[in-house]
Amino acid sequence: MAADEQADIVVVGGINTDFLVQGPRLPAPGDNVRGHLFLESLGGKGANGAVGAARLGARVALVGRVGMDARGLALLEQLEGEGVDVGAVARDSGELTGVVLEMVDEAGRSQTLCAPGANRCMTVEDVMRAEERLSAARVLLAQLEVPLEVVSAAVHIARAAGSRVVLDPAPAMDLPEDLLEAVHVIRPNAREAEALTGVEVRDRDSARRAAENLLRRGVGGAVVASPGGSLVLSSEEELWLPDVALERADTTGAGDAFCAALAVALAEGKSLPEAARFAHEASALATLRLGALAGLPNREQVEARLARLGPSGTWPEPAPHH
Ligand code: RIB
Repeated sequence: MAADEQADIVVVGGINTDFLVQGPRLPAPGDNVRGHLFLESLGGKGANGAVGAARLGARVALVGRVGMDARGLALLEQLEGEGVDVGAVARDSGELTGVVLEMVDEAGRSQTLCAPGANRCMTVEDVMRAEERLSAARVLLAQLEVPLEVVSAAVHIARAAGSRVVLDPAPAMDLPEDLLEAVHVIRPNAREAEALTGVEVRDRDSARRAAENLLRRGVGGAVVASPGGSLVLSSEEELWLPDVALERADTTGAGDAFCAALAVALAEGKSLPEAARFAHEASALATLRLGALAGLPNREQVEARLARLGPSGTWPEPAPHH
C-alpha cells in the first residue's frame, strides 16, 4: 500500500527471522538428529499476520520493533515487498531482531525456541506513535509476542476509535479481564484456551466450554481450535468447522493465517460465521507449505476452495487436495 493510504488493518505484534530445519524426527533432549532441509524466512506472528492479510487483499500496517542489524533491515524490505506499511516499525539500537529456531519432522509436527530480542523492547510509545494509523483502521489484529502493556494500549486505542479487535492469544498465557472485555473476537488454539480458561480442550464439547468461559468474561466472540476442528461461538450462534483433511507439510503459521483472514473478512463487513469459514480455509491452505510465511495463501486460493465447499459450508469427505 502507498505510504499516504489508510490501512484497513493494523497489526501489532512480533517480527522474527525464522530458521527452520526439517528432519526425520524431532530430537529428544541430548539428541543429535541429521535433518535434510533448511529454510530461513521472515516470521513472527505479527509479521505473518500482516503479510497474510496483505496477500488476501487488505491494506495493512504493522506496528512492531526490529534491531538495527542486517536481518532487521532485510525483514522490513521484505514486508514492504509484500505491500505492508512498515512506517510504524521501530528500530532498536540495543537489541537484535527476534529469532526463532524451528524443527519440523516429516509428519509436520514442530517445536520452536525463540529469542524475542527487539520484540520484547516494544513500548507503549511505539503504539502511541501509531495512534493515527490505529484509529483509522477497521480492525486491529494483535498477538502476545510483544509486552502485554503494548497490546493493551493498542487494544484500548482501537476500541476508543470504534475499530474491531481480533486477538490471537499466542503464545499461551492468562490475560487480565479488562483486556478480554475489549476484544471482539479471540482465537486461541487448544493450549492457549486452556491457559486462559483452565478448560482442557480435547473436542467440540470442551472447546465450547472454553469459548463460553471467554464470552462470560466479556469477549464478543471466540473461535477455539481443538483437535478435530474449530468451534465458533458468539451470543447469537455456534458453528463447528471440522478440520480439513489435507496432507500437511507444517502447521506452523496456520493460526497466523486464520487470524489474518478473520481480520480481513471482518474488515470487509462479513459476519463472524462467514469470516470464520473464510479463515478456516485460509488456515488449511497454510499447512501445505513448509515455513509459516511460504504457506500464507492469496485471495484467489482461498476463494477457489470456498467455491468448492458443499451446501452445508463444509467439505464433503474425503476433502480434496489442492
Ligand atoms: O506462528 C508462527 C510464528 O511463531 C513463526 O513465524 C515464529 O516466528 C513464531 O513467532
